Amino acid sequence: MEKQEKIIEMFNQIAPTYDKANRVLSFGVDISWRKNACSLVLENYKNSSIDIVDVACGTGDMMGIWQSMASELGVKINSITGVDPSTGMLEVAKEKFKDFTFITAMADNTGLEDQSADIISISYGIRNVIARNEALKEFNRVLKPGGYVVVLEFTKRNNSGFIPKIRDFYLSKILPKIGGFISKNEEAYTYLPSSIENFLDKKSFCDELREAGFEVQICKGYSFDVSTLFIAKKVK
Ligand SMILES: C[S@@+](CC[C@H](N)C(=O)[O-])C[C@H]1O[C@@H](n2cnc3c(N)ncnc32)[C@H](O)[C@@H]1O
Repeated sequence: MEKQEKIIEMFNQIAPTYDKANRVLSFGVDISWRKNACSLVLENYKNSSIDIVDVACGTGDMMGIWQSMASELGVKINSITGVDPSTGMLEVAKEKFKDFTFITAMADNTGLEDQSADIISISYGIRNVIARNEALKEFNRVLKPGGYVVVLEFTKRNNSGFIPKIRDFYLSKILPKIGGFISKNEEAYTYLPSSIENFLDKKSFCDELREAGFEVQICKGYSFDVSTLFIAKKVK
């Protein structure tokens, strides 16, 4: 099996326990990272009607947050579309969010129309996309001029201070045990730290966004840089 297919199959296997493991492993903190990301972008769309696409939507958590933050901030939503190649993850998402549209597709070939979205988000997903540069170009194609791409991700670190060491210890030693216990699939939760290690640092990912035609407006670490938020605007 190709590497990308293996990753998707792994998400199919852990899909039924994904939400439970996620909340336990992040101590629920991911919800505040997600809310903050959504509200920073939605501020630009007060009193407008917008179309949102969430790529690598998984079980749909980010889509739910887009909906609740938009109603809190007075932004009208025309559509929220989730895209993911894992049928297992989408099955859980469809059960949770009956009104949203879902597409079974990869990030680099969504099948969406040119200039059809105001916002494209991808939370904790871009690390899993092998054809990353093609995916960023696809986001640019699907976004309307001036639209935003919003990325939440665990980025690779360059420094080796005390907090990074604790994070790395948690990710490599504790998380695979707890995630493995909940999902009965320790291998999947060993993949997480190695996928972060194989991903980019903040600066290199900003460079890739720029190369794909975006202007990076926010590149911000949360909770001692455990999670990073990138907000970039389509400029060409
Ligand atoms: C860690 S989960 C994140 C799910 C969700 N966005 C969240 O925040 O909980 C990563 C997701 O990326 C999806 N994925 C893996 N490869 C992908 C690809 N090439 N294109 C799009 N999504 C992909 C997986 O199926 C999985 O649902």
